[in-house]
Amino acid sequence: MDALIVAGKTELVVGRGLPHPILPARSDRERVALVTQPGATHIALEVARQLRDEDLQVEVIGLPDREEAKTLVVAGSVYEALARFGLGRHDTVVGVGGGSVSDLAGFVAGTWLRGVEAAHVPTTLLAAVDAAIGGKTGVNLAGKNLVGVFWHPTRVIVDVTILEDLPTSLRREGLAEALKTGLVGDRELFELLEQEGEEASLEEVVTKAAAVKVRVVGEDERDSGSRAILNFGHTIGHAVEYASPLSHGESVAVGMVAAGRISERRLRFQGLERMSGAIAGLGLPTRVDGLERARVEDLLRHDKKRDSSGMRMVLLRALADPVVEHVEAADLAIGLDAVGL
Ligand SMILES: NC(=O)c1ccc[n+]([C@@H]2O[C@H](COP(=O)([O-])OP(=O)(O)OC[C@H]3O[C@@H](n4cnc5c(N)ncnc54)[C@H](O)[C@@H]3O)[C@@H](O)[C@H]2O)c1
Ligand SMILES: [Zn+2]
Repeated sequence: MDALIVAGKTELVVGRGLPHPILPARSDRERVALVTQPGATHIALEVARQLRDEDLQVEVIGLPDREEAKTLVVAGSVYEALARFGLGRHDTVVGVGGGSVSDLAGFVAGTWLRGVEAAHVPTTLLAAVDAAIGGKTGVNLAGKNLVGVFWHPTRVIVDVTILEDLPTSLRREGLAEALKTGLVGDRELFELLEQEGEEASLEEVVTKAAAVKVRVVGEDERDSGSRAILNFGHTIGHAVEYASPLSHGESVAVGMVAAGRISERRLRFQGLERMSGAIAGLGLPTRVDGLERARVEDLLRHDKKRDSSGMRMVLLRALADPVVEHVEAADLAIGLDAVGL
């Protein structure tokens, strides 16, 4: 039985295999543009086959891989393809791929003809627990995600069998965000990942993590306040990511340990050891050695959340009990110490 979470305008379907029909029922839809990337093409072709069986006209549009997809030039070429295909007001853009696809496909759907239906089939764990949900879309210019729209998909379809086949590195990227989500919003999700590590059922992980994201986003759709808790581990994490060869998920793992240590100092958070144990149990790093601390500090100094006397960061009072707090330079220093910086 597929799990179905209804969140505002989005239905989230989590199951094994694709649902029938794939898209929410609508009689006036004739065409579907499937936007995909190299690593997900085989899945897009399977989705296309099934949609054609459902009597829809389907065009598959391939994007360049990863961040290369998230540019205005690529968006422009997708608009041209939609024009040739004749994608109309009642038709649908479906993104099949990782977060770079849901960001670009969602952006195109939200702007084509001033907005047409979007749906996503996330094929990475990160996209399933995070990127495809919540309505943020966008492309990069000089900085990441500088141009975008909030555009909610009508349906997000998670076929867990796809996620179970992911290479370890991609699976860990998603597990880092799922653990973060548990730490700020669902103690049971945290404990599932703590106890089962990489063996945890992805069906359960996705259902729980997506439910938290849906709840948090529902309370703050346009990211003006409480949605900030989803940035746990990301302030120091982003600085580590820019200054090191670590991936986004690995950097966020290190950032969470640093934020956990700061939480311990400022708020008497007692879960740091369990948190670090869970991170290590997922095959993610809890510290980063050999990095120049001054470089990370410099990046943090330029963080947009920073003011003259310190910065605002998501901290934990307890597991699944986050708070956004003002953090001083001395706290930051202790956080950096804790991860070997
Ligand atoms: N909008 C949001 O709320 C939000 C949230 C988090 C992240 N993001 C964005 O998501 C992007 C990162 O997403 P991502 O990590 O999913 O990366 P991605 O889309 O860049 O994909 C990573 C790699 O995985 C490959 N791939 C995809 N599916 C696969 C599969 N089933 N098997 C094997 N390989 C596969 C891709 O071809 C690519 O090489 C970033 O651009 C980030 O900004 C957006
Ligand atoms: Zn992240």
